[in-house]
Amino acid sequence: MVNQNNRTMRLGLLGLGTVGAGVAQILLDPKGRHPLLTEISLHRVGVRSLHKPRSLHLPPGVLTTDLEALVHDPDIHLVVEVLGGVEPARTLILRAIAQGKHVVTANKAVVARYGAEIFQAAQAQGVYVLMEGAVGGGIPIIHPLKQALGANRLNRVLGIVNGTTNFILTQMAQGRGDFATALATAQSLGYAEADPSADVDGADAADKIAILATLAFGVQVSREAVYCEGIGGIQPVDLSYAERLGFRVKLLALAQRQGEYLDIRVHPTLISQDHPLASVQGVQNAIVLGGEPLGEVMLQGPGAGAGPTASAVVGDVVNVAATLRADSGYHPLLGAPATRPIPQLPMDEVQTCFYTRVLTQDQPGVIGQLGTCFGRHGVSLASIVQIGIHEQLAEIVVVTHQVREGNFWLALAEIRQFPAVADIPTVLRVWS
Ligand SMILES: NC(=O)c1ccc[n+]([C@@H]2O[C@H](COP(=O)([O-])OP(=O)(O)OC[C@H]3O[C@@H](n4cnc5c(N)ncnc54)[C@H](OP(=O)(O)O)[C@@H]3O)[C@@H](O)[C@H]2O)c1
Repeated sequence: MVNQNNRTMRLGLLGLGTVGAGVAQILLDPKGRHPLLTEISLHRVGVRSLHKPRSLHLPPGVLTTDLEALVHDPDIHLVVEVLGGVEPARTLILRAIAQGKHVVTANKAVVARYGAEIFQAAQAQGVYVLMEGAVGGGIPIIHPLKQALGANRLNRVLGIVNGTTNFILTQMAQGRGDFATALATAQSLGYAEADPSADVDGADAADKIAILATLAFGVQVSREAVYCEGIGGIQPVDLSYAERLGFRVKLLALAQRQGEYLDIRVHPTLISQDHPLASVQGVQNAIVLGGEPLGEVMLQGPGAGAGPTASAVVGDVVNVAATLRADSGYHPLLGAPATRPIPQLPMDEVQTCFYTRVLTQDQPGVIGQLGTCFGRHGVSLASIVQIGIHEQLAEIVVVTHQVREGNFWLALAEIRQFPAVADIPTVLRVWS
């Protein structure tokens, strides 16, 4: 597939919207990313309109409205489909496969409904179809399910897989209005579409759990048979009663084995405040996988957006590029990581905040002396308080802002010499 002499893999991108533009941005700026990205070129980009203003500047001649020609272009090795919707995305994916091209897609609507058809066609053609961006945005979930967790008998997938609804429920739980108000806020912040029905009715989450269940259990899931209930009927009063009873309300997508059956559904659910999914707030997504012998693992992160989704899509592109390279010898992603020498920062140059506890004689002016000494060394303080008296010594706790580590220790060495200072029993770094 890839020209072994110049090693360049030419990519055709279908769609230059939120995700497509994120993908193009990464491909056009490969410095500091995986070295294989320097061997991938953005050959054609298919869109609906050539006249739409776009913030991204592509090389001349790359943009086209002829998507059929793009998937038939013999110079293109891999097609990335980020158009959205079922058609023409499904047909174009199948045409690309028929032309012997690998495909990367983030289209959960197509994969949840036509995944079996697409993957069979791909296998028959000997090409790959990868879809990390289809579920969980930037959270790596498809790849772990297909590879790293392969030793497990998975028995449960449970997740918050729609950021829009999680944002709305979080707003409502925090007393920021009812469903309509929270939805309007989500729309004004760009977290919800003008037509939010696929999100709020649970259809988007149902697409995603259908894909996850297929991979986790190796079963064929009928998307139409996934029970699906949205969040439109939830009242703020129910959220506050749930809170009082020790629960939080989340739109959960779940799939679990139940004897010979697959229990798969999406609905608003009360979940104990102790459960890790209860603390997943706003547009974040999280997925809990349960299996034997793993136990449970939770993956959490940004579930949508240009950058996170493009991160997943381009990760798949790198994966295909590496696999093609492996055909001619060695798999670059399984071998030694590509590294270059780098000087490591000496501890004195580290920037960090500090917490320190100082025991001093209980006499006036000591706090002032400490503050002045830290200031002289350029150590800015977030707080300095006398907590109490401990064995007749005043206990003073100091928390600094971000400071150069070397300066902090110079100040502390000087402070240790103060006649009023009896001891400095604790110094800890603060992560901020
Ligand atoms: N947005 C996210 O955060 C996110 C997260 C995860 C997965 N996804 C998935 O990624 C896919 C793309 O989403 P998006 O948000 O990037 O969509 P989007 O912003 O609406 O962009 C769609 C792009 O596809 C082009 N397009 C659509 N239909 C076309 C057609 N019939 N012919 C030619 N061009 C067409 C549009 O062209 P014009 O620019 O000319 O209009 C636009 O560039 C969807 O499957 C979505 O479910 C999105």
